[in-house]
Amino acid sequence: MILSEILNNRYSVKEFDATKKISETDFEQVKDLLRLSPSSINLQPWHFLIADTTEGKQRIAKGTEGFFHFNTPKVYDASHVIVFAARTNADEAYLTSILEQEDEDGRFAAQEFKDQVQGGRKLFVDLHKYDLKDLQHWMEKQVYLNMGSFLLGVAALGIDACPMEGVDLKALDIEFGLREKGYTALAVVSLGYRKDTDFNAKLPKSRFPEETIITKL
Ligand SMILES: Cc1cc2nc3c(=O)[nH]c(=O)nc-3n(C[C@H](O)[C@H](O)[C@H](O)COP(=O)(O)O)c2cc1C
Repeated sequence: MILSEILNNRYSVKEFDATKKISETDFEQVKDLLRLSPSSINLQPWHFLIADTTEGKQRIAKGTEGFFHFNTPKVYDASHVIVFAARTNADEAYLTSILEQEDEDGRFAAQEFKDQVQGGRKLFVDLHKYDLKDLQHWMEKQVYLNMGSFLLGVAALGIDACPMEGVDLKALDIEFGLREKGYTALAVVSLGYRKDTDFNAKLPKSRFPEETIITKL
């Protein structure tokens, strides 16, 4: 399949076929998308909660009660539902854990390179924490970047998705004790397969034309 076909074929599914499950082999690749996403200074400031059982989906659906009820069926009828959460701190211990992982993965030929990376990473974190004062926002941008490549990736695997900001994030934080663990929920993505009756599948895609959004220099 060529890329434009994948992009035009994907859409935000409003009605999932509850009888269809993502295979285990495909889901291994789905997890790779989450893990291998790039992030600024390799910060990887994310955590993912994945539900593929009714009990797990019930817990995530607590975030779609009340005002966000329109998203509830997309949680129950999906094959897998993922809560995207962001870290709420990037302290010295966390930076060291990234560094040690990189060392274990063979990224440093000498100790001096390792020291340089830790120093550089701390500079960036301090810049966002103290000068720009947007550390939380910056970390959340990295999680959204992950979500963006994730949506394209699953589409390339032939898996349908619906990203959802229409969820009560505080309710999810409470349900999963995320804040106590140093995270906060950002959005939910349901995965599975479109149902034949999904009205959104029949609607044409709508985007601004190239001339509106691109300026050629
Ligand atoms: C971050 C994000 C949050 C979204 N939240 C919801 C949502 O809560 N419920 C929903 O049905 N669609 C949601 N959407 C789907 C958008 O409405 C959809 O992506 C947009 O209209 C473009 O259409 P397409 O994805 O079908 O190409 C969301 C999309 C994104 C990227």
